[in-house]
Amino acid sequence: MPVSPILDRQTTYPFVRLAEAAARVRARGIEVIDFGTGDPREPTDPRIRQALVEGLRDRIGYPAAVGLPELRDAIAAWAGRRFGTSLDPDTEIIPTLGSKEAIFAFALVVVDADGARDTVAYTDPGYPVYERGALFAHARPLAVPLQESNGFLPDLEAIDEETWSRLAVFWVNYPNNPTAATAPLSFYEQLAALAREHGFVVASDEAYTELWFEEPPASALQLADRTNVVAFNTLSKRSSMTGYRSGFAAGDPTLIQALKAFRPTVGTAPQEFVQRASVVAWGDEEHVEETRARYGRKRARLLDLFERKGIRVPGREATMYLWAAVPDGASSEAFAEHLLEHGVLITPGSYLGAAGEGYVRVALVPSEEECARAVQILDRVL
Ligand SMILES: Cc1ncc(COP(=O)(O)O)c(C=O)c1O
Repeated sequence: MPVSPILDRQTTYPFVRLAEAAARVRARGIEVIDFGTGDPREPTDPRIRQALVEGLRDRIGYPAAVGLPELRDAIAAWAGRRFGTSLDPDTEIIPTLGSKEAIFAFALVVVDADGARDTVAYTDPGYPVYERGALFAHARPLAVPLQESNGFLPDLEAIDEETWSRLAVFWVNYPNNPTAATAPLSFYEQLAALAREHGFVVASDEAYTELWFEEPPASALQLADRTNVVAFNTLSKRSSMTGYRSGFAAGDPTLIQALKAFRPTVGTAPQEFVQRASVVAWGDEEHVEETRARYGRKRARLLDLFERKGIRVPGREATMYLWAAVPDGASSEAFAEHLLEHGVLITPGSYLGAAGEGYVRVALVPSEEECARAVQILDRVL
């Protein structure tokens, strides 16, 4: 049977490997507290669920790729309140089915694999979908390392002229998965200026902008000039709605127009009842504040433990993750395996990219009670 050689060459998706490792430990009768995948386990706000139910009608047709005007209005209003930015709902916003599919497919919209724009840059360690999307679009993938010494921002000075000129898109993701770092607006300004100078697109994956602890992080949508810039956001983490699949892309109207041309072919607009629930979700901040507070309590508990154990946590500014340095020069995989033997599942940094070696990612998704139990276990074994 023919199978795409690109698919054949892919290694197992890192979280499938993690789930397999956890299943092996569970099979031995050990309870596993899962700090692995960043899938929030909090209940979705009842008002959002109610809107979904009310959105069901006798017949629901195909959703249009441009989405409901009410949803685009709600997104524009939210971005205005949150980032003080003005977005035209008709020309600068398009809803997406969560953000993963849109991120994966974006290379198909901008890459010219046989021409001059054949390269997709993304940061390492990072969300694996930027690279996979690039490979399936026959683009040249370019991993740009995130170093602790540079605040987990990519070193833009290290990129040469030839690479800039071949770049179709540069993916950035702040607040960052997995390093929990944030980027100042000046970083977006610098990258957007380079994008205009060299003719590539800045794609800013902003899935975690709402999970912060001290100061709300910046967005590429705050740029005074958004030429060549597009941001992707989602309700998955903000509103604990991973299963609903609802997000958006916003930015340069030329890019949004390209997405409007591309997306009807793929058929990836959220179902109408999901869009109706999303209008309620973008319109409410109360549930988001509660979510932040809950992550904040879990974070404080884990940070306290790591501090007592002398484990450095250089990544802790925002997101639902802590990015901790592996003690005693052990490999990140060996350290994670050691903890898994005691029933605590975390992600080895190396699973998230070569530059992730030396760190582990702790996703603060178990319940507060499970976090307390995990702290007791870690207190014993670390
Ligand atoms: C960095 C990053 N971007 C995007 C996503 C995609 O989220 P969704 O497709 O649920 O919107 C995730 C999910 O874990 C993520 O970690």
